[in-house]
Amino acid sequence: MKKLLISGAKGRMGQMIASQAAGHGFTVVGGIDRAERLDGDFPIVRDFSRVEADADALIDFSAPMMLGSLLAYAIGHNLPCVLGTTGYTEAEMEALSAAARRIPLFYSPNMSLGIYVLKQLAKQAAQMLPGFDIEIVEKHHNQKADSPSGTALALLDAVKKADSLPVFGREGKTAKRAPGEIGVHAVRGGTVAGDHEVGYYGDHEVITLSHHAQDRGVFAAGALRAATWLLDKPAGLYSMQDMMENK
Ligand SMILES: NC(=O)c1ccc[n+]([C@@H]2O[C@H](COP(=O)([O-])OP(=O)(O)OC[C@H]3O[C@@H](n4cnc5c(N)ncnc54)[C@H](O)[C@@H]3O)[C@@H](O)[C@H]2O)c1
Repeated sequence: MKKLLISGAKGRMGQMIASQAAGHGFTVVGGIDRAERLDGDFPIVRDFSRVEADADALIDFSAPMMLGSLLAYAIGHNLPCVLGTTGYTEAEMEALSAAARRIPLFYSPNMSLGIYVLKQLAKQAAQMLPGFDIEIVEKHHNQKADSPSGTALALLDAVKKADSLPVFGREGKTAKRAPGEIGVHAVRGGTVAGDHEVGYYGDHEVITLSHHAQDRGVFAAGALRAATWLLDKPAGLYSMQDMMENK
């Protein structure tokens, strides 16, 4: 069994990773989260300076503010990391790229295979439907902090062209829709694990491509698969595409 650290261990995703780890050949040797818990199946400590266990890999589903201490710890311990946290700023993404020159890092704002496929299809459809208006809608549970979702932004990246004009919500707009606009809209409510839809609106016809995550277990399985894949990789920043194309 390979040894795993979980950052954000007490969160929704952290707990899901812990419950699926054994099925993927990992034993969880420690966790990091705000409130310590030393009497569970594995110790959870409040920051990286208190981690005692040696590990083969780390999976993080926490919050962007943890990134600095996480990367410092991972570089210091030469630890491959899978990062699932969303909402990073540009500066944080740069820090991530810089760290990836020293250690193997896997980053994806969405760990599901289905979303990987949706992105490829969305890109292809955008190329095949010039002149269609594109709108992206995402829905998540009422506890999600960032919006729009990292996945909606990744879908935007997949469908946009050089002259596209992303529009986040339309509050306060008084002019009609510009041809190159791509609307991005966030819905928040209940317990929705994650829905994403890319709509292509033409003259008298509409095509929609959509993905529904039925349970966040799908993200945990993807992250654990990524951790296994990452174990023997050299330093670098890897994505779902790298794993799926087995680069
Ligand atoms: N990439 C994906 O496929 C994917 C899927 C689901 C969620 N997410 C993202 O993963 C992150 C976590 O999601 P979640 O639903 O598990 O959230 P959550 O709020 O249930 O869990 C986050 C955990 O991190 C801990 N934490 C946050 N900041 C901390 C800090 N500074 N120090 C110590 N612990 C800290 C919190 O105490 C909490 O237990 C979010 O950014 C979410 O958008 C990504």
